[in-house]
Amino acid sequence: MTSFVVTPTGRPLSGHVVAPGDKSIGHRALLFSALAATPVRVQGLGSGADNGRTAKAIVALGATTARAGDELVVHGPGLRHLSAPPAPIDCGNSGTTIRLLTGLLAGQPFASELFGDESLSRRPMARVIAPLRAMGAHITGKDGGADVTPPLRIAACVERLRGCDHTLAIASAQVKTALVLAGLTATGTTRVREPWRSRDHSEHLLAAMGAPLTVADRAVEIDGDGWDGRLAIDRIVVPGDPSSAAFLVAAALVAGVDGAGVTVGPITVNPTRTGFLDVLAQMGAVIERRDPFGYFRGEDGATLAVAAAPAGLRGTSLGGELVVRAIDEVPILAAVAAIAEGETVITDAGELKVKESDRIATTVAMLRGFGVEAEAQGDGLVVVGRGRRPLRAARVHAEGDHRIAMAASVLALVADGPSRIDDADNVATSYPGFVAALTGLGADLRVEP
Ligand code: S3P
Repeated sequence: MTSFVVTPTGRPLSGHVVAPGDKSIGHRALLFSALAATPVRVQGLGSGADNGRTAKAIVALGATTARAGDELVVHGPGLRHLSAPPAPIDCGNSGTTIRLLTGLLAGQPFASELFGDESLSRRPMARVIAPLRAMGAHITGKDGGADVTPPLRIAACVERLRGCDHTLAIASAQVKTALVLAGLTATGTTRVREPWRSRDHSEHLLAAMGAPLTVADRAVEIDGDGWDGRLAIDRIVVPGDPSSAAFLVAAALVAGVDGAGVTVGPITVNPTRTGFLDVLAQMGAVIERRDPFGYFRGEDGATLAVAAAPAGLRGTSLGGELVVRAIDEVPILAAVAAIAEGETVITDAGELKVKESDRIATTVAMLRGFGVEAEAQGDGLVVVGRGRRPLRAARVHAEGDHRIAMAASVLALVADGPSRIDDADNVATSYPGFVAALTGLGADLRVEP
């Protein structure tokens, strides 16, 4: 089991980090390419293990992939010509892989099985299975108490699925995308409404590929009647990952910057992903967006720049849609809140309890390890910022959660001695280059087996 040992240097950070390919868009680029009738050149894909799971899954469904320099060329069988996987598909630690595949496979004329690691085997699947059953799918899983958990068995779909009009109880891009994928194979109209708008990468990409999809405010609609099932695009450029970049931006805010400052990018600044920048601005951080450009429709790009050392951040509050737009960044925002003045109150974040770990509990435990006062409160948490009073060197157990390990590494930069973060292997699921990136900015982080 890998541990990180972080030794504070007392020196501010500086340098540039090239952001890895976005994990969410990487999953979609791979999966949707397999649904295309013509080859797709996927560029900029990250090397995280989660995207690797989706890459293997599409091969199991009949796609072939070939590396050509830094591109991956995907030759898909196409939406209507997928083949039965020869064995159960291992989704590893990846919630996006299993949920998107469930939606896609629900409407296919062959049976399939999906499973994952210990953490994935605890994650709730009823949110995707229940509406798919209402569309006519036959899916069973393990009885996970109040929910259904992997492994999942998806029966061959004998008659086509029926479109549905489903309102999500919780904003979720994974569930929304699963239903949209099922809708591509269904008769009639499939409409998915959300309480708040979750990340919309699927909508942008599928529309660009010719899917019969329309978006109105917080609803997506697929009308597959009369559609020939053809999806096509020559090239997909995967934008840089804001969720990975967030850790380096936070490191710059926590440890301070000198020289030319810290720049990270380019990344997508799609507003459904940049809630963390809005929260950091509320806290008084100044983060510049440099060199704006467009990756493709809906995904504008920019490089983030943290210039002067922050003149004291202040606590803030976040809830509602802002939490949805920053859902994966809550642990690192809570870490930044720990060095701010005053309280930070996070509400409407119940979803964090069912991520790779119970992130409300693991974030609170991580903060307390550094001597920070923090408490879980209902569907959220409260962090009492210490301002610039030193943090205690900590020993943190990341509970196999990549984002907890990375958030702890950032706080450890300003502790009063070396900190140790155990169970950090899963950083490789989203950001294998994290250690190199942080040390490249001047941090002292050693990996111990
Ligand atoms: C993701 C959506 C989010 C996010 C996850 C990736 C996606 O989950 O937390 O890391 O790629 O669609 P939910 O859709 O369950 O909110």
